[in-house]
Amino acid sequence: MNFAESERLQQLLTQAGWKETKNVQQTHLLIAIGCSIREKAENRVISFLKSNSHLKEKGTIFCLTGCTANLHKEKILEKLPFLDVICGPNHIAEIPETVENCSPGKCVLKTGESDNPFIECVPSKKDITLMVPIIKGCNNFCSYCVVPMARGKLQSRSPDSVVREIRNAVKQGIKAVTLLGQNVNEYGKDFTIDYCFSDLLCEILKIEGLLRIGFLTSHPEDTTEKLLTIMAQHEKIMKHLHIPLQSGSDKILRAMNRKYTVEKFFNVVEKTRKLMPEISITSDVMVGFPGETQQDFEMTLSFIKKVRFNELFVFKYSPRPMTKAFKLPETVSKEEKEHRHKIILDTQKQITRSILNSFKGKVCDVLVERKSIKNQRLYIGRNIQGIPVSFESKEVLEGKIVRIKITDCAEGILYGKVDEECQLLQGSQSREKMRK
Ligand code: 5AD
Ligand code: SF4
Repeated sequence: MNFAESERLQQLLTQAGWKETKNVQQTHLLIAIGCSIREKAENRVISFLKSNSHLKEKGTIFCLTGCTANLHKEKILEKLPFLDVICGPNHIAEIPETVENCSPGKCVLKTGESDNPFIECVPSKKDITLMVPIIKGCNNFCSYCVVPMARGKLQSRSPDSVVREIRNAVKQGIKAVTLLGQNVNEYGKDFTIDYCFSDLLCEILKIEGLLRIGFLTSHPEDTTEKLLTIMAQHEKIMKHLHIPLQSGSDKILRAMNRKYTVEKFFNVVEKTRKLMPEISITSDVMVGFPGETQQDFEMTLSFIKKVRFNELFVFKYSPRPMTKAFKLPETVSKEEKEHRHKIILDTQKQITRSILNSFKGKVCDVLVERKSIKNQRLYIGRNIQGIPVSFESKEVLEGKIVRIKITDCAEGILYGKVDEECQLLQGSQSREKMRK
């Protein structure tokens, strides 16, 4: 989400006449997007700003945005007294005007909710993919999570605005979109009319020229049969589902306020795989939540082995202010969290490697995104599961779907060759695909 927002902010600032510089020492305006999901991320942005505070002497304007701005508001001035603008994520669109009008020695504060927190974006001509925020905030209040406090209540972007943006983006050459939200399955729950995420997907599916549609993140509790059926029916929808597990122990899930059991989670996985055997299921897991015993941890570990996620993001629990869990005494030491984190990472590494290995010899339709930065003869794209695929070709292929035979893999990437045999076998239809 922060990445998508930074792209949009960059566009707004360019329109307002600002030019990007890679050299921090040359900046007239320094904007930091702070993530507060874990303490470490928050500390990083605070140190970054502090380490550049000397730029204030030459008149650089300092702005803090993102979750950190909304969470701490003016209190962050105790640590960063030189800030000129503190702007929560729902007010990003106001940054260009605010920085233009701010005056030295007086910090402008723009936080809290906003009637229109979304920025409509026109992508640059060279982009193939676009991230499209469709939801701001979250109403779930998982006991460890700062997002509802940092980003506010659930707010769905209007279907008109989403569809208009994607239509315009496709005219500019965009071929694939990823719809973003803390829990995309809750899309529309704040509307007065009966309209849900599946309805939005059906609307986007009608956009001609758009080749692929993906989305992030799904809550296991809200991953409905209706959504899975639509995913299975439409070949343009990515066969990738990111459903955070967090823990393999029902006791911990209850304490986290996750509203599902391990059994229910497994049912979602089974239903999904039954409808779409080729689907990639990825997840998030947290270790060291207050009260997590060795037995709870082992339940998480054995569940991960049972499910065999394609990819897993593993986090060490970090107490966050204003959350319900913040008041709970920490029961897992730093060293033990580190140990549990490593065990899960090592286990998952083997699972991911064996899943990637199983692609060898198979054929994938790859949407070509760009040339490799290191080797201009190589292209990088993604298959329908969203896995990066690299291959060699002399043709101009950006934005096209090419059939690739997988020959090898490394960490997080597949390697292959343009499948000439398959292109010929499929005759003009496949050639057509390559040239689209
Ligand atoms: N500590 C550690 N990890 C967290 N996450 C969210 N809040 C915390 C926290 N307080 C993780 C969850 C979530 C992912 C985006 O970040 O696993 O799914
Ligand atoms: Fe945080 Fe839970 Fe909302 Fe995800 S669903 S953003 S973990 S409160």
